[in-house]
Amino acid sequence: MRIGIIVYSQTDNTFTVAKELQRKLMNVAKTVTLERVTIVGEPGQPESKIEFAVKPGLDPYDEIIFGAPVQAFNLAVVMKKYMNQLGSMKGKKVHFFVTKKLAQKWTGGNRAVNQMNKICRSKGASVGESGIIFWKDQHRKRTTEEVIERLIHAI
Ligand SMILES: Cc1cc2nc3c(=O)[nH]c(=O)nc-3n(C[C@H](O)[C@H](O)[C@H](O)COP(=O)(O)O)c2cc1C
Repeated sequence: MRIGIIVYSQTDNTFTVAKELQRKLMNVAKTVTLERVTIVGEPGQPESKIEFAVKPGLDPYDEIIFGAPVQAFNLAVVMKKYMNQLGSMKGKKVHFFVTKKLAQKWTGGNRAVNQMNKICRSKGASVGESGIIFWKDQHRKRTTEEVIERLIHAI
């Protein structure tokens, strides 16, 4: 099985989790590729102005874990635009994780996961696990481990 971890990360938090996820997944899976969505220019641009510098395709993967930050109580707009532009996900299984600052799911965590879920379902993917990591929470290390374990278990 070919596994892809595809993340957008503005300030590296999500990317840090993705690297740890990749490291741990490689103990149980042969091929685990980590790819990072990047944009041209500075962050904070409106959706209509965003252009991608790196826009990973899904063809190489059977199963994909998408990761992104919560921004303004929503899925980061870069990730939303990237995922909306992807083609059919029929036959693929997907999982999600988001990182966010505030330690409450209702400040955008659940909504961001639901947004990823909705986009992927509309493209025919089968949706598996998801997790939310609160960056400023004192239990971040434990939560990160739990989310990573849950995602690995679902693969
Ligand atoms: C523009 C912007 C908006 C943000 N909005 C939220 C928010 O609504 N809720 C929240 O919990 N964290 C918010 N954050 C914090 C990020 O979600 C958090 O720091 C995340 O871990 C950053 O991930 P990254 O380093 O991969 O970009 C925001 C950060 C930025 C830069």
